[in-house]
Amino acid sequence: MKALIAAGGHATRMRPITYTINKHLIPLANKPLIWHAIEKVADAGIKEIFINVNPGETEMQKCVGDGSRWGVAIRYIEQTGGPKGLAHIVKNAQPYLGEEPFLFYLGDNIALGSIREFVNEFTTRNLDCLLALSKVKNPNQFGVPEFRAGKIIRVIEKPASPPSEFAVTGIYVYSPKIFQAVSDIAPSARGEYEISDAHTWLIEHGASLGHQEITGWWKDTGRPDDLLEGNALLLNELKLSEAVNEAQTDPTAVIQNKVKIGRGTIIGPGCLIRGPVVIGENCRVENSYIGPYTSVGSGVEIINTEIEHSIVFENAKISCDQRIVDALIGKNAQVLAAERTLPRGHKLIVGDNSLVEI
Ligand code: DAU
Repeated sequence: MKALIAAGGHATRMRPITYTINKHLIPLANKPLIWHAIEKVADAGIKEIFINVNPGETEMQKCVGDGSRWGVAIRYIEQTGGPKGLAHIVKNAQPYLGEEPFLFYLGDNIALGSIREFVNEFTTRNLDCLLALSKVKNPNQFGVPEFRAGKIIRVIEKPASPPSEFAVTGIYVYSPKIFQAVSDIAPSARGEYEISDAHTWLIEHGASLGHQEITGWWKDTGRPDDLLEGNALLLNELKLSEAVNEAQTDPTAVIQNKVKIGRGTIIGPGCLIRGPVVIGENCRVENSYIGPYTSVGSGVEIINTEIEHSIVFENAKISCDQRIVDALIGKNAQVLAAERTLPRGHKLIVGDNSLVEI
């Protein structure tokens, strides 16, 4: 089976971070989001993967490469005309996928556990479409299935009054019948070719559509808060065997719980690092506390600071005599203590659509 991973789109809900980085390249537990998706697909035994990207994309290709890192072959498909919806991605990819079943995986979804059984179930049940469902508190933000006698009778995209408490997650397996559906549907009121409409089309045209509930943890990373939650859950999954400290660590520094630290990093005297935490290479940590659920990219400096439940992108510098929580700090960003100059106060250079809570 082949796989198609969606990694284009506008990511407007993730601004300002996505002004300078493709959402799918944002690091969670110090690995780009898209790597987590590829790992999941490769773990299902799939060897041929296509990644849907926006026209002109180049960073994705640099970051992911040809797939040899995962023992799979990866090729890229530009979404002709730009991000016009999930059904449009499938339609655009038809020439590459051929007349065979395939897995469609949204690159901004994080699921814990393997999807192997899910993929196998599609084949054993001889289906045209298998949807992975997850119970959520806010179904109105997803595609929502409506059931009758235990069967899905239609799927509604982001309904104001959801007919069930389930979200259709971004993990789908299709037979080639999906190509008829995505060619036949019209754009929605927001101008996108909705995958939910393609699912309803399949049901209305007699295709066999199955569903399976994901009982483990699943997350669609649509908003910045989702990134912090996703990061925390991925750090929780850090294996003891991965929690290796390669830093030059002062004997008075204390490292507790699962902590992974890369080469060339210096952990200075008196620091406390309480995992689960990952810290990249060539960082400098001095007189600081790094608390649970924090990911620190390579080349970061953390000095005289306490930080917890946060994501710090590479080459950021934090030196502020403060306690920072629930923060996303972008590449090369600096969070510094105010110089003792007048007038006193917080001195900020904050980009468009940023959020600062002081
Ligand atoms: O995550 C599950 C939800 O994903 C489903 O419940 C919804 O039915 C489905 O429509 C989708 O909703 P979102 O609003 O979350 O979709 P989003 O626009 O965030 O795009 C999902 C992924 O696909 C994301 O990785 C970006 C990528 N994408 C999106 C569009 C619209 C593309 O590559 N091209 C596109 O044209």
